[in-house]
Amino acid sequence: SQTPWTGRPLVLVGLMGVGKSTVGRRLATRLDLPFVDADHEIESAAGLSITEIFDRFGEPYFRDGERRVIGRLMDGTPKVIATGGGAFVNDETRALILDQSTAIWLHAHPEILAERVRRRDTRPLLRGKDARQVLTDLAAKRDPLYAMAPIHVASQRGPHEATVNAILKAIG
Ligand code: S3P
Repeated sequence: SQTPWTGRPLVLVGLMGVGKSTVGRRLATRLDLPFVDADHEIESAAGLSITEIFDRFGEPYFRDGERRVIGRLMDGTPKVIATGGGAFVNDETRALILDQSTAIWLHAHPEILAERVRRRDTRPLLRGKDARQVLTDLAAKRDPLYAMAPIHVASQRGPHEATVNAILKAIG
């Protein structure tokens, strides 16, 4: 295992299905750091699922909660945070992440993302839609923003361990 990470929080950003949560959890294990999934934090703060928050209160309300939860997680202690795909797209949340953490953009071709999310999907932005189309459109809009993260890592096909190794090398 690696030397424990002592820097700022590491924040994984990127599109739905790219593996932010799985990769983040394994990265945290390798660095001996706590792992936090921002979407789960939002769900427990609200006592509702992401889908329920979108349905009952709308996306702007969700984005606001997301920004507050991520702000609270930036308490200066080292950790690995997986964010929901839209967090880094929101101007205020992105500014917060860029200011207080090291952002890592995990990227993959929309085709690959669509394959991954197709298996089991509960995401409000994909419900009843063609995932490939939505993800292609979101990539076109969001990639220029994700690219503002200082570290870019391609999500490897196959075991997530390869991606974790690529991140460890990049932050080395
Ligand atoms: C969203 C991504 C989701 C979740 C919400 C909105 C987005 O997180 O936050 O459904 O705007 O891309 P994942 O990226 O973990 O699926």
